[in-house]
Amino acid sequence: MNDQLLENFKTRLTATEASFKVMHRAPSNIALVKYWGKYDPQLPANPSISFTLSRAFTETLVFFEPSMSPKINLKFEGKAKPSFIPKVQSFIDRIKDYCPYLSGYSLEIETSNSFPHSSGIASSASGMAALAMAICSLEANLSGDKVDLKKASFLARLGSGSAARSIEGPLMSWGLHKDILGSSDLFATPFFEAHPIFNAYQDAILLVHKGVKSVSSTVGHNLMNNHPFAEQRFAQANENLARLLRVLRTGDLDDFIEIVELEALSLHAMMFSSTPSYILMQPGTLSIIQRIRTFRKETGIPVCFTLDAGANVHVLYPLENKEIVVDLIDNELSAFCE
Ligand code: PMV
Repeated sequence: MNDQLLENFKTRLTATEASFKVMHRAPSNIALVKYWGKYDPQLPANPSISFTLSRAFTETLVFFEPSMSPKINLKFEGKAKPSFIPKVQSFIDRIKDYCPYLSGYSLEIETSNSFPHSSGIASSASGMAALAMAICSLEANLSGDKVDLKKASFLARLGSGSAARSIEGPLMSWGLHKDILGSSDLFATPFFEAHPIFNAYQDAILLVHKGVKSVSSTVGHNLMNNHPFAEQRFAQANENLARLLRVLRTGDLDDFIEIVELEALSLHAMMFSSTPSYILMQPGTLSIIQRIRTFRKETGIPVCFTLDAGANVHVLYPLENKEIVVDLIDNELSAFCE
């Protein structure tokens, strides 16, 4: 099955003598059921699902210039950024079997994020997705076909796993799951069956700790190899996704909250119990979590939290509760933020 899918992503297209310029905006995403643990080549140990973050995005302009000796130049937020080039180069090398035409172009890349640099908001998902979309636009231009969003997700995944989910929205699942028709470990697919309440769901990102994390996601994924709870965790993620899919259809917010918070805490529990163990939460992370739970109990407002692999807290709530939740953030939670 996968072999056939992989063949479908291959092409015989080659570079032409015309240059091509394209600009793409790709959103970041926050997982509700977490991907944690992977195997080569960048395939998930369990399926995941995420909200697409429409206001946290990367914009990337790529100028493909025909060349016999291809080079990459990159500007980040208007300034030359040679330190980003090796990551882009290794991505291009990784996808060369699927995009052979790239060997005939030099790339001038200009990229920027809608969120502050080094804020702890991961830019690899939106960054890799924007670049993959630009490459798929070049491919569409060469073939005369439409941009292949499945291939864009497939390529983005090879740059950064969670980038597979940064192609469409508002909900994207990635990884084979028995309850998702057409699901695959190779690329993400949009989930269109959600209750309308989830189409305009809100996410406020509280920056508890800015800057580079002490342990990268790559190291964290690898620590799931030989982790004593790995098998239970992968089974739990599959079950939580099955439950969450039902909840996303019905709009039951109590169950939504229960699953989403459990997933966030289970992700961090894997970090606490790996060898070596590590902690990415900060005291402020816990204070915010406690305060959100107390507020929910006192008011009945369906606000909850999730976490990615860091100290920052994503506060999730329905659009209709925006005013009261923004007050909570401004008056109480912001005290724990950098
Ligand atoms: O895509 P990566 O390798 O940065 O891993 C992302 C892992 C989490 O953000 C913690 C979970 C997820 O599913 O996005």
